[in-house]
Amino acid sequence: MRITKDQIKQINEWIEDMDLVGLTYEKIDNEDLIDGLLFHHQAPDFLGEVEYSSGATKVVFIGSNVDYVIKVPITMMQGDLIEEHEDYEDCVYDDDYEYQGAINPFTGECMSDYCWEECLLYRMARKMHVEKFFLPMYKIGENIYIQPKAISWDEMDEDDDRPFVRYVTREEKQYARERASMEGHDVRNPEMIAHFFLQYSEEDVMRMLAFMDFNQIGDMHSGNWGLNDKTQKFVIIDYGSFRDS
Ligand SMILES: Nc1ncnc2c1ncn2[C@@H]1O[C@H](COP(=O)(O)OP(=O)(O)OP(=O)(O)O)[C@@H](O)[C@H]1O
Ligand SMILES: [Mg+2]
Repeated sequence: MRITKDQIKQINEWIEDMDLVGLTYEKIDNEDLIDGLLFHHQAPDFLGEVEYSSGATKVVFIGSNVDYVIKVPITMMQGDLIEEHEDYEDCVYDDDYEYQGAINPFTGECMSDYCWEECLLYRMARKMHVEKFFLPMYKIGENIYIQPKAISWDEMDEDDDRPFVRYVTREEKQYARERASMEGHDVRNPEMIAHFFLQYSEEDVMRMLAFMDFNQIGDMHSGNWGLNDKTQKFVIIDYGSFRDS
């Protein structure tokens, strides 16, 4: 990944200009808000064509000319939905509900920034020598992060001809499930583990699963893991975990 100080400055100015502070998942989900912002705020030229994607905890900007993506944390819904109206603005939420978001893995403290949680988890993964399973996350500004580009499993082209990009068999998935549960891991995504077995040693994969269990990293749906573009290795893209309390 190559990024200069000047490029960091330009990205910061652009993201700050869009003023994404306080965005919630519901807003992004219900309005074409980001489309509008992208239209009105010109992205730095060096990024190329910019597309965006979003999930429950982040907005992700993907530029065609760079080998990283830009991530901005968003806030989870603040209260329980009491009354739903067709027009999102009129929905009524229960203010007493407190959402406990990202957990700082070093202090246990609750945070609202899921990107920062991933930075901390990545640091911890390095300490535990399991970092190769996780796409690193770097902070480049207030609420602005970058991560190497990847392609999530659900975006993979079915005709991809790289030998390790293939659908694993039912037997391979069954084996992955059994192997992991032998070590006490609750396997919710045997497909991902079976893919890891294609590229990493079983011992390493088990160590990574123990790390995930310990840090309550879950929700491994097919948008959250995939291939690192550069290294061509299967990795976990989204390893922030969010919890209700
Ligand atoms: N490094 C990356 N390279 C390419 N695409 C990415 C990358 N990171 C995220 N994306 C895309 O953006 C989507 C949302 O990113 P991510 O999963 O990190 O956010 P999230 O809001 O925490 O998601 P979730 O809804 O799973 O909680 C991903 O499903 C993926 O399609
Ligand atoms: Mg995700």
